[in-house]
Amino acid sequence: MKTRITELLGIKYPIIQGGMHHVGYAELAAAVSNAGGLGIITGLTQKTPADLGQEIARCHDMTDKPFGVNLTFLPTFEEPPYDGYIEEIIKGGIKIVETAGRNPEPYLPVLKEAGIKVIHKCTSVRHSLKAEKIGCDAVSVDGFECGGHPGEDDIPNMILLPRAAEELSIPFVASGGIGNAKQLVAALALGADGINMGTRFIATKEAPVHQNVKDAILAASELDTRLVMRPLRNTERVLANSAVERVIEIEREKGPDLKIDDIADLVAGVYPKVMNDGEMDSGAWSCGMVAGLINDVPTCQELIEGMVAEAKSIIGGNLAALVED
Ligand SMILES: Cc1cc2nc3c(=O)[nH]c(=O)nc-3n(C[C@H](O)[C@H](O)[C@H](O)COP(=O)(O)O)c2cc1C
Repeated sequence: MKTRITELLGIKYPIIQGGMHHVGYAELAAAVSNAGGLGIITGLTQKTPADLGQEIARCHDMTDKPFGVNLTFLPTFEEPPYDGYIEEIIKGGIKIVETAGRNPEPYLPVLKEAGIKVIHKCTSVRHSLKAEKIGCDAVSVDGFECGGHPGEDDIPNMILLPRAAEELSIPFVASGGIGNAKQLVAALALGADGINMGTRFIATKEAPVHQNVKDAILAASELDTRLVMRPLRNTERVLANSAVERVIEIEREKGPDLKIDDIADLVAGVYPKVMNDGEMDSGAWSCGMVAGLINDVPTCQELIEGMVAEAKSIIGGNLAALVED
C-alpha cells in the first residue's frame, strides 16, 4: 500500500501508532514498526532526556525499521527540558518526530537541520495550515472522536478530513476513532494519506500496559468516554470511571471558576497507576470512542496485516464492484 505517507516515512503500510503517555514504550513502537507501520516512543514518558536516549537505544535493539518519537508541548507547571530531549532524539538517529500540543515552530530549525521529518498533530484545519506554513512535513489530523485532547472545536472526522484535504498540500493522516479496515478505507477515501491510531494499539499483545487496561477497553462501548477539563480549555477525552465522574461533578460545582488545582489529583500523575498498576479508577486517562469497536487483543502484526488485507479486499472487491457497468 503506497501513499505519500509511506513514501515520506519509508514504511510499508500507511499506519502510525500515535504517542501515548506510559504506553508508547520501545516494546510497542518496535512491534508496530516491525509489522510495517510506524511505531512512536512517547518522549515525555521518559523522566529525563538521558532516559529517552536509553529507550531509543532499546528500540533500536528490537527493530531495524524506522520508528519515531513523540514530543508533546502541553500546558504544564514546569517546562520539561525539550532541548535535552531533542538532543537525545538526534543522537539516537531518529528521523521522524511527532509533535503535539503547542506550535512546534521554535524547535523546527534544529529538527530540520538534523534531517528529521516532523508530523504535527492538529485538531483543526487552521492549525494544520499553520503547521504546513512553518515547514512541517506532514500533519496528523485528530478529529473530535479521538482519545486524548480533541481541541475545542468538536469537529468529527467525517467533516474534518475532507476539509483538510481541500486545504492542505502536505500529506496528512487521519487520526481519532479509527480501529478497523473499513475505517482505514474511509480515511483514504476522505482524502487522507494514511491513519494514526492510539486506543486500538493499547489493546494489542505487545502494548506494555496492565491487563486491566486492555480489559477496560474491551468492555467499553462507544458511549463510555467522557470529556473533562473543557472549562480549562484543555479538553481531554477519557474513559468513564468513578474518578472521572467526580471530576465532572467538581466542574459542574465550580463552573467558570474552576482551577486546575480543584481537580489536579484526579487528572495529573495518574498514568503510572493506571497503566502500570492497573488501578482503573485512580484518575482520568485518555481513551477514544473507538473502544466501542475493539473486541480483541491481537499482536500488532495480526492487527496491521489484517487491516491491510481487509482494506485491499474492500477496495478491490465491494467498492470496485460498484463502478462496474
Ligand atoms: C492513553 C493515551 C495516551 C495518550 N498520550 C498522548 C501523548 O502523550 N501525546 C500525544 O501527542 N498524544 C497522546 N495521545 C493521543 C494519541 O497519540 C492519538 O492521537 C489518539 O489516541 C488518536 O485517537 P484514537 O485513540 O481514537 O485512535 C494519547 C492517547 C491515549 C489513548
